[in-house]
Amino acid sequence: MNIAAVDYDGLIPNNVALGQDVRVKRALEKWHPGYINWWNDMGPEGFQEALVYLRTAVSVDPKGWAKFDYVRMPEYRWGVLLAPQHEGRKIPFGTHKGEDAWQEVPGEYRAMLRRLVVIQGDTEPASVEQQRHLGKTAPSLYDMRNLFQVNVEEGRHLWAMVYLLQKYFGTDGREEAEALLQRRSGDPDTPRMLGAFNEKTPDWLSFFMFTYFTDRDGKMQLEALAQSGFDPLSRTCRFMLTEEAHHMFVGETGVTRVVQRTCEAMKQAGIDDPYDIARVRKLGVIDLPTIQKKANLHFSLTLDLFGNEISTNAANAFHAGLKGRFREDRLKDDHQLESGTYPVLRLIDGKVKNEDAPALSALNMRLRDDYVVDCNIGVGRWNKVIADLGIPFEIKLPHVAFHRHIGEFSRTNVDVDGNILSPAEWTERRTEYLPSSSDKDYIEHLMQPQFEPAKFASWIAPPKVGIDNKPGDFEYVKIADA
Ligand SMILES: [Fe+2]
Ligand SMILES: [Fe+2]
Repeated sequence: MNIAAVDYDGLIPNNVALGQDVRVKRALEKWHPGYINWWNDMGPEGFQEALVYLRTAVSVDPKGWAKFDYVRMPEYRWGVLLAPQHEGRKIPFGTHKGEDAWQEVPGEYRAMLRRLVVIQGDTEPASVEQQRHLGKTAPSLYDMRNLFQVNVEEGRHLWAMVYLLQKYFGTDGREEAEALLQRRSGDPDTPRMLGAFNEKTPDWLSFFMFTYFTDRDGKMQLEALAQSGFDPLSRTCRFMLTEEAHHMFVGETGVTRVVQRTCEAMKQAGIDDPYDIARVRKLGVIDLPTIQKKANLHFSLTLDLFGNEISTNAANAFHAGLKGRFREDRLKDDHQLESGTYPVLRLIDGKVKNEDAPALSALNMRLRDDYVVDCNIGVGRWNKVIADLGIPFEIKLPHVAFHRHIGEFSRTNVDVDGNILSPAEWTERRTEYLPSSSDKDYIEHLMQPQFEPAKFASWIAPPKVGIDNKPGDFEYVKIADA
């Protein structure tokens, strides 16, 4: 069978020959109604009948994998798609380095592997839940369409992980697949597994920051899992990364357009001082210091997703060959890390300092460092827009110790420059760094829907190009048909 082509005949589009795999096909078909119920209950609120111009994966060939068309979201074809198998692939790191990649779950690592799949799987529906109210305040049909595209693809990512659970983990895999539909973002009794996925996404600036910062954590995790010696996981994650790129595009360009609109409005009104917040807000745009605070919030919440700086779990998963480093295949070392060290930021005698730790224990720190480098690329692009419009302001990522809830700095108060604050100083200065309730109220009052083709809310610039090269007045979502 041609792996690049996807079989669209059955209930579940796939390129894993599901037709010949009766047990797994039945298990997934049994899981399907629960998924649809979850989507109807927890997916985008108020737009389930709208026709949305969405891309659907029809192939796993990187050169032409998607087709665009109007779809009602509950009818989206969520499929199981794995990137093509590399003939003769070897386990690229850890104690089994150089052995044939596993096509079946290695018994000794079963529990560890299942946990990695479940944690990744849990984040996918969580973000759909977090974003379900946003359609109602979309600043344009273009943005609404992008939101829904991200949402249906996160739904597909859930399918991707559920396929692995159903195919490779028997009864407990089936139970985990059920549980993925039971937990709810922010629910006090049955929350999602990771903190950032239980936070609210109350407005569109949060959505753009989330897709910029938090989907980028997703990218880092998927890159690390794409290296896995367990080949089906590697292939699944490789294809998910194709979709993930669009999510980060939505975040990066979303923030760019907000920043651009703010600077253009300031220029037009003759305001040079970005801290003249009252005057800037009169223009119906989001002042740059508030955008900075939102970035501080989402960056710091996302850093917590990388876990403890020093981690035995991460060391074990690497040693076992299950989860590698960011782009392991491009790194030049022994890929086993039994010796060697890595600098880890620690709190030593009341100061934030680097200290060498065994490289194997410091893998979370290393992935987080790679993440910060990746984050800074887009921040540089935002700053270029600001500079080109002549406003004296620079967006900066806060210090990694700022506002942390997990790891080395979770019990310390640190400002955005890495200075330690007393609890009293932190309380007093918190709203210098993080959105205050009046900042939140201001943003919320701006969130007025704009559902006319070609029109955009006051606080955001139109995109440079349309999706699928569509013209500016294209009707990306047909709400009237709802
Ligand atoms: Fe995802
Ligand atoms: Fe994503």
